[in-house]
Amino acid sequence: MRTKVIAVINQKGGEGKTTTVRNLSYILAVKGKKVLTIDMDSQGNLTTNCDLLKRELETIVDVFKGEKEINEVIINVQKNLDHIPNNIKMSKFGLYHDKSAGWSELLKEAIEPIKSNYDYIFIDCPPALEFATYNALEAADDIIITLQAEENSIEGIADLLDSVNEIREATNENLNIMGIVVTKFKKATKLQNQFHDMLKNHFGDAVFNTIIRDNIKIAEANYNHKSVVELDKNSNGAKDYLALAKEVLKRI
Ligand SMILES: Nc1ncnc2c1ncn2[C@@H]1O[C@H](COP(=O)(O)OP(=O)(O)OP(=O)(O)O)[C@@H](O)[C@H]1O
Ligand SMILES: [Mg+2]
Repeated sequence: MRTKVIAVINQKGGEGKTTTVRNLSYILAVKGKKVLTIDMDSQGNLTTNCDLLKRELETIVDVFKGEKEINEVIINVQKNLDHIPNNIKMSKFGLYHDKSAGWSELLKEAIEPIKSNYDYIFIDCPPALEFATYNALEAADDIIITLQAEENSIEGIADLLDSVNEIREATNENLNIMGIVVTKFKKATKLQNQFHDMLKNHFGDAVFNTIIRDNIKIAEANYNHKSVVELDKNSNGAKDYLALAKEVLKRI
């Protein structure tokens, strides 16, 4: 099977990107797939959620600078699951390199030598359409957009789709939108239900059938640097991410 590189993206903050990467990667690794996660957010939340001390680690930025080989920054997190960390160092690097020659292809080039070691590579993006996100979009085959059911989310998606089209026209013409997943969904809220219907009308089958409910176990799992499936496999959070993983496998 050819490696699939999947960027999880939304330029808005707190939309469940990191949580989605953490849980999908955990579930697929347990299913026996070889998985790599790449933290492209200088907040380093995914790195922390993998139970790593981000400040002390070499990161993808050291590879971009040519100071480390990609193999030197890959950390094994569990059986079948590797991780490439990030930390605050990337925010400076991103500012400096934004729009310099080849700036958006650094990640794509960096992962080329190790790509075939994995079935799936998930890239966690920061909440901004800048250096890191453009690098993720250049490197990716597919994107998953996560969003909360809120009124201004649709406008945000329109901006994001503009960037996707820009990348398609420029360099990565096959970049595919695998799907849009609603996260942190509060079922009791009438507005949120209406929003989900609106999203379906707007984007049709692109919207995943699985909805990730707002579930305290998910937040607890993040806090404890675990997947929600590991923390409580009977929780709604675990059920939802297991269902999403199934849908993702069908769409690949
Ligand atoms: N389904 C959920 N139910 C309850 N809490 C959740 C859920 N998903 C995520 N959270 C919590 O919401 C917060 C934001 O989630 P997360 O970090 O995954 O979003 P993000 O899009 O990666 O944010 P950022 O844009 O800052 O990187 C976290 O505190 C997380 O624990
Ligand atoms: Mg995040």
